Amino acid sequence: IIHLDSNTASLSVANEIASLIKLKQEEGKKAVLGLATGSTPIKVYEYLVQFHKEGRLSFKNVITFNLDEYFPMEPGSIHSYVRFMKEHLFDHIDIEPDNIHIPNGDLGMEEVRKYCEDYEEKIKNVGGLDIQILGIGRTGHIGFNEPGSTLNSKTRLIRLDRVTRLDAASDFFGEENVPKRAITMGVGTIMGARKIILMAWGEGKSNIIQQAVEGKIKESVPATFLQHHENCDFVLDSAAASSL
Ligand code: GLP
Repeated sequence: IIHLDSNTASLSVANEIASLIKLKQEEGKKAVLGLATGSTPIKVYEYLVQFHKEGRLSFKNVITFNLDEYFPMEPGSIHSYVRFMKEHLFDHIDIEPDNIHIPNGDLGMEEVRKYCEDYEEKIKNVGGLDIQILGIGRTGHIGFNEPGSTLNSKTRLIRLDRVTRLDAASDFFGEENVPKRAITMGVGTIMGARKIILMAWGEGKSNIIQQAVEGKIKESVPATFLQHHENCDFVLDSAAASSL
């Protein structure tokens, strides 16, 4: 789906999420959202906050699972995805704190495996993800599933690609400060969502979008696995779509 600009594209995604939440409310059910960080979804979150402030949308029946978190990472750090999500969404809406799940980057090495298994269990126990929103990294990663991630991979600790760490360097005031690892939902976890929306803005994403949409499905570009999903939209601005 190609929009003229990222603003209208973000509004359409926010509207789709709001409709899902309202539908679930009418049915007396919870809406389970898979959320992403990075610059791409920021405007979507702005619109959702706006809908809430206008009294048009409550998040009381919403459960969220974030895709990923750097490792190691203290939740209170300015670089944490916990902080990002609070700043852009959670501090401004009426979601129950117990319904928010973000991978914990502040664990001992020996705790990680069990923690990741539990994260998967929690998603299963609430009936799976209704909708997963995604950005895309220059390496073709989704979440932090770097090249080499398999189709069935689950939530786990991964080693970040050099390109990804370079892209994050300015946020961390230097590549040497970017954590070398992260905890991420797996490709398989993401593929389990009933609906997936991958968003990309700007010409810088056009090459990887072309590969993800039109390229051969392969582990070296994990986003190509989304071609296997039966209910996945790529929502793009015209610049990100310019190589298609
Ligand atoms: C990080 C996140 C991804 C995100 C990617 C792209 O690597 N873990 O989930 O999709 O950045 O970031 P941006 O949206 O800023 O281009």
